[in-house]
Amino acid sequence: MTQRRCAGRVGAIDLSGIRKLFDAGGPDAINLGIGQPDFDTPGHIKEAGIQAIRDGKTGYTPNAGIPELREAISEKLRHENGLSCQTENILVTAGGSEALHLVMQALVEPSDRVLIPDPGFVSYAALAAIAGGRPEGMPPDETMHIDIDHAQERMDGARLLVLNSPSNPTGMVESEASIRALVEYADDAGVTVVSDEVYEHFTYGRKHYSAALYGDDVITINAASKTYAMTGWRIGYLAAPEEYVNGCLKVHQYCQACATSIAQYAAVAAYTGDQSVVAEMKQEYLERRNLLYAGLRELGFDFPEPEGAFYMFVPMGRDLIAQTIEGGIIIVPGDAFGENAPDHARLSYATSKENLNRALERLNKIKGE
Ligand SMILES: Cc1ncc(COP(=O)(O)O)c(C=O)c1O
Repeated sequence: MTQRRCAGRVGAIDLSGIRKLFDAGGPDAINLGIGQPDFDTPGHIKEAGIQAIRDGKTGYTPNAGIPELREAISEKLRHENGLSCQTENILVTAGGSEALHLVMQALVEPSDRVLIPDPGFVSYAALAAIAGGRPEGMPPDETMHIDIDHAQERMDGARLLVLNSPSNPTGMVESEASIRALVEYADDAGVTVVSDEVYEHFTYGRKHYSAALYGDDVITINAASKTYAMTGWRIGYLAAPEEYVNGCLKVHQYCQACATSIAQYAAVAAYTGDQSVVAEMKQEYLERRNLLYAGLRELGFDFPEPEGAFYMFVPMGRDLIAQTIEGGIIIVPGDAFGENAPDHARLSYATSKENLNRALERLNKIKGE
């Protein structure tokens, strides 16, 4: 009999703990598990995609992306992030996810150490492992920010340092001083920094600083997904020194060929069009953050105010996490994000205020039982 075996490196990783939750809960469940904007893609962006279909722009595009989009992204990086990137430094990918995958495949040698935040976005450890590397979790400090001393201690001999500010799942934003210190240290230690900035626009009272401002050996990962409510369009990019872009391009060329043509045209409209749509979404997230945080504090949860993205990472204890999910509020247990915070759960406020109020009421009941 044929043995249906997948390669060991794939067998060793689990399906994402978050995806598993998507189907959980009954019809009455309140979903705070979701990691994507609940807004529709803004009209002018959708129109650009529709127009691209009408114009027959439906064939393969250049592997690295259409020139207009690479130019729009390099211009965005210049004026929003203060980075001087040429189009040659940009590779357009199928979402931030593919950009992360390419970087791991192109840079990581077997057994290379890859430092990742723990708790951190679920893909980092899996993608490092699929590339043959050894992911190593960096624990946070007591405020859920990066523990700089700890990260620096681990840096010698590592291949990559993955940063993610604003963070999924903690909702924390790193200060300029922290990012600068880490990037400069990494530079000295010969560690390449991978800075995942997909939530850069959603910060509340804090400013976002791009890691590439502070060193030359930094790869910036970003996407249209969260900023423009475009998760399903699958447009992301990496911005990097040309040597890395060329390496990533080889992998991209053979596995993806190019990002979806019509989505690339829509993304040009996103990056070059009216940016007030982003400000409107940010304002709404801010109001929801305030509502959920105040409600949770009233219920007795004591944790620092989340500063960005659309998540809060709440110290609930394992029993209450399980009761909450059983009681019909979908939240993501901390062990989906690594090993360091099993007593926490991620609550997403990418959902209506009405849902947040209902969730708070229901949580109050569950807590009292
Ligand atoms: C921190 C982080 N990076 C990257 C991604 C991937 O985004 P995309 O949908 O663009 O692949 C996500 C999605 O949840 C994320 O939370």
